[in-house]
Amino acid sequence: MWPTTKFTEITKTILPIIQAPMAGGATTPELIAAVSNAGGLGSLGAGYMQPDDIRAAIKRVRQLTDKPFSVNLFVPEKYHATPDELQTMQSLLTLIADKLETTIAIPEPPYLPNFDEQINIVMEEKIPVVSFTFGIPDQQYLSALKHNKTLIIGTVTSVHEALLWQMHGADIIAAQGTEAGGHRGTFAHAMREGLIGLMALIPQLVDKVALPVIAAGGIMDARGIIAALALGASGVQMGTAFLTCHESGIPDGYKQFLLRTKSDNTVLTKAFSGKFARGVNNQFIELMQEHEAAILDYPIQNAFTQPLRKVAAQQNNAEFLSLYAGQAAYLCKEISATELMAELEREVKIILKMM
Ligand SMILES: Cc1cc2nc3c(=O)[nH]c(=O)nc-3n(C[C@H](O)[C@H](O)[C@H](O)COP(=O)(O)O)c2cc1C
Repeated sequence: MWPTTKFTEITKTILPIIQAPMAGGATTPELIAAVSNAGGLGSLGAGYMQPDDIRAAIKRVRQLTDKPFSVNLFVPEKYHATPDELQTMQSLLTLIADKLETTIAIPEPPYLPNFDEQINIVMEEKIPVVSFTFGIPDQQYLSALKHNKTLIIGTVTSVHEALLWQMHGADIIAAQGTEAGGHRGTFAHAMREGLIGLMALIPQLVDKVALPVIAAGGIMDARGIIAALALGASGVQMGTAFLTCHESGIPDGYKQFLLRTKSDNTVLTKAFSGKFARGVNNQFIELMQEHEAAILDYPIQNAFTQPLRKVAAQQNNAEFLSLYAGQAAYLCKEISATELMAELEREVKIILKMM
C-alpha cells in the first residue's frame, strides 16, 4: 500500500506525485489530465501564458478530468536594461540568428503576460491548488486565494525561503533541489546559496518548517520517490520525467534530444532567459558563455531569445533550443503519462514490499 501523506490528504489526491508545472508548452491539458486521472496532481505551467489561454487550458483540463489539478504562476520581478545593453545583445544574438538564417529584433515591453490578469483568472476559475515560483505574491492575492479555499504551494530552494513562505500563509512547500530542471525558484538570497541537493534540503525543511514538503529535483522513478518519502517529504514533484511523455507539448527536437542523446550533461545557465535554469548543454549555451556579462535581466533576455528558439524548433535544431531538464535526464523514457504513473505506482509497491 502507498502511504497516505499530509499532501494526499489535503489535496484529495491518491498518489503523492505532482507532475511539475513546466511553462513553455510541456504541460498540455492532456498531460495534466492523464496525471490527475491516475491519482496524482497534474499542473499547468501558466507563467508565460496569456490570461485567455490560461482560461481555455483550464476549461480543456476540466473536460478531460474531474480530479484536482493545479496552476502555477511566476511572481513578477524588477528588471532593467539600457538602450546600449539592448543593442549589444541584439548584435550578439544576430551572430546566432545568422546561423539559423533569421533576424533578431529588440523586444518591446511588456516582456511577460500581466500577472494581475493571470491570477484573476485563476481566482475566478476557483482552481483547487495554485503554486508560485520566483517569489511571494502580494498578501491581497494570498488572502483572496485562501478565501476561495485554494491551497497555496510556495516554491523554495532553502530553509530561509520556506520560513518566509510559511509566514505568508503557504499550505505546502515545494522544495527545489539543485538537481531540478528548469528555472531556479530562488527569490530571497543569492542563487548560489540555494543550490542545495535534495538529500540535504528535505530533512532540514521537514525539521524546521511546519508545512508538508514536496521534493523536486532529479526524481525519475520509484527509487527517487521512496528516497524522498524516507527523507520526510510528503510528496514528489517530477518535471523531466514527464517531458518525454507522449502527452508533453515540447518541440519534437527537444524530446528526441533528451531521448536519443541520453545526456547527463546538464548545466545552470542564464543564457536563454536571464535567470539561472538547468538544462542540457548545447551550442547556444557554449556561445553565450563568453558573453555572460552582457546577458540581460529576466524576463528581457527571455523575450529576446524567444523568437530564435521558435525558429530553432521549426528547424528541429536542438542546439539553439532551451533544453531545460534535471540532472537525472539520462533516465527519460518514451512513454505515455498514464503508463508512467501506473509504472511508478507498481514499482513503489514492489520496493515497499521488499523493505
Ligand atoms: C522544462 C521545465 C520547465 C519548468 N517550468 C517551471 C515552471 O513554469 N514553474 C515552476 O514552478 N517550476 C518549473 N520547473 C521546475 C519544476 O517545477 C521542478 O522543480 C523540476 O522539474 C524538478 O526537477 P526534475 O526536472 O529533475 O524532475 C520547470 C522544469 C522544467 C524541466
